[in-house]
Amino acid sequence: GLAWLSLPATAQTLVIGHRGVAGLAPENTLSAVKKALHLGVDAVEVDIRQSKDGALVAFHDDKLERTTNGQGDVSDFTLAQLNTLDAGSWFGPQYLDEWIPTLAEVMNAMGHSRAKLIIELKVPGLERDVLEHIRTYKLQKRVIIKSFDPAILTRFAQLAPDIPRLYGFFGWSERFNLLMDDEIRRLNPLDMDVSYLQVYHSFLTPALLDEAHQRGFKVVAWGVHSRKAMESMLGLGVDGIETDYPDRLYSLMDEF
Ligand code: G3P
Ligand code: CA
Repeated sequence: GLAWLSLPATAQTLVIGHRGVAGLAPENTLSAVKKALHLGVDAVEVDIRQSKDGALVAFHDDKLERTTNGQGDVSDFTLAQLNTLDAGSWFGPQYLDEWIPTLAEVMNAMGHSRAKLIIELKVPGLERDVLEHIRTYKLQKRVIIKSFDPAILTRFAQLAPDIPRLYGFFGWSERFNLLMDDEIRRLNPLDMDVSYLQVYHSFLTPALLDEAHQRGFKVVAWGVHSRKAMESMLGLGVDGIETDYPDRLYSLMDEF
């Protein structure tokens, strides 16, 4: 019953697994990354933070409590300490053996698939190390650097201009209005020079999408987990959809 929808860009819509594939496996674990790849996503998104001794780890929150059996700030523990934590049981008993993976482990898990890795930097100061990882694993053509923090993206643009960047923001924010205002844009150019904007799905309108496209941005919708939101974003023709449930999105796309 979806015939009323026109689907301008379904074939081109990037399907992005959020935090690996957060609806189907414990977020930001190797199990989630592998499941996303198995589902055939175009890109896997992970969040990156730093341990006390400087290791880059895939982890979303600043605190350990929600997704591990540890307590306190991730950044207060060494990698060896973090390694002892259970990062899977909270999601389901079968994930008892999941740990907080390093960025290197995530990159290794990407293997030779065609999927891209979207690296969201949650804190500043990691840019150089992340870039070194990208080069070590020869992923220059397979990564997108993502942040909600313009300063991080600007830094990355300086270090590695050729690696695409994605600017995420929560919705129709002041910042988005700034971005969309010609004059202010000239006064305050986007030094971060991003090619992707990521907007919370319910703030996207045809006009906004059109304007972003005219300005040369690709637009990714985030928070797209319900069928209703998926239908709406497919109908709008966004360039990418970040979801906890790529499986649901694929079956919906198959219906057309
Ligand atoms: O891009 C935004 C989306 O990823 C939500 O952010 O990091 O809270 O999952 P996060
Ligand atoms: Ca994220």
